[in-house]
Amino acid sequence: MNPIIEAEDLFFSYQNTSVLSNVSFKVFPGEFIGLIGPNGGGKTTLLKLILGFLKPTKGKLRIFDKSPNIHLDSQCLSYVPQSVRFDRQFPISVLEVVLSGLLNKLPWYGRFSPKEKHSAFDALEQVGLVNFADRAFGTLSGGQAQRVLIARALVSNPQVLLLDEPTASVDSKAEADIYAILKQLKGKMTILMVTHDLNAAIDQVQRLFCVQGNVISLEPEEVCQHFALGLYHAPLIQNFPRKE
Ligand SMILES: Nc1ncnc2c1ncn2[C@@H]1O[C@H](COP(=O)(O)OP(=O)(O)O)[C@@H](O)[C@H]1O
Ligand SMILES: [Mg+2]
Repeated sequence: MNPIIEAEDLFFSYQNTSVLSNVSFKVFPGEFIGLIGPNGGGKTTLLKLILGFLKPTKGKLRIFDKSPNIHLDSQCLSYVPQSVRFDRQFPISVLEVVLSGLLNKLPWYGRFSPKEKHSAFDALEQVGLVNFADRAFGTLSGGQAQRVLIARALVSNPQVLLLDEPTASVDSKAEADIYAILKQLKGKMTILMVTHDLNAAIDQVQRLFCVQGNVISLEPEEVCQHFALGLYHAPLIQNFPRKE
């Protein structure tokens, strides 16, 4: 099977600060991968490189066998950014937030078709918020708002979904809701999720990428208890065959 995302000897620096060096990995269609690693390790930077928001300083990065490109169709790639700040007073409905995930489909006369509204309701259904379509986005709880942002990413039915700490600022009930949504999506699309919640992630993902200046691919059973303490390291024992 051809990889859907591939990095080879990838380097990235912000001005003079090296963030990622010598990064090589392959992600195959349908995989669910957790991105873990210390703060500042380069997780968000890696997602931004895949999205084409940032350009590699050196090396190769391919997605769908092309260079990452911000103009890539949202049907290919969707992104739930890390902690979206929104103005609670801003008058936008839940349905409108979800539809904004289809902005690139909006015709010049600026109205969404019934088909697109149908897709938006479908996406809200997937996150269990179909009854909230007409609510003002600003009145939702943090967990509900995060689910709406996931619906916004799903509305274009992407092949690859990138999530940056989707459970970072929500309570444990909302966290369980979000993991339940991801469980439903597993296998239907390729998912890369940045998370600090190692235990919840290990139950869900097929592989983990430990991002700490470089990227080490780990099977869930190679994850060490140390990681939960913020001490990330390469596998200590490598005497079993590793999947490529
Ligand atoms: N826009 C930027 N300009 C300069 N340095 C940045 C910028 N964004 C992030 N960094 C630095 O790059 C490193 C990696 O950041 P980031 O990818 O956000 O890490 P993570 O998501 O793993 O916490 C950090 O040292 C951070 O300070
Ligand atoms: Mg980050």
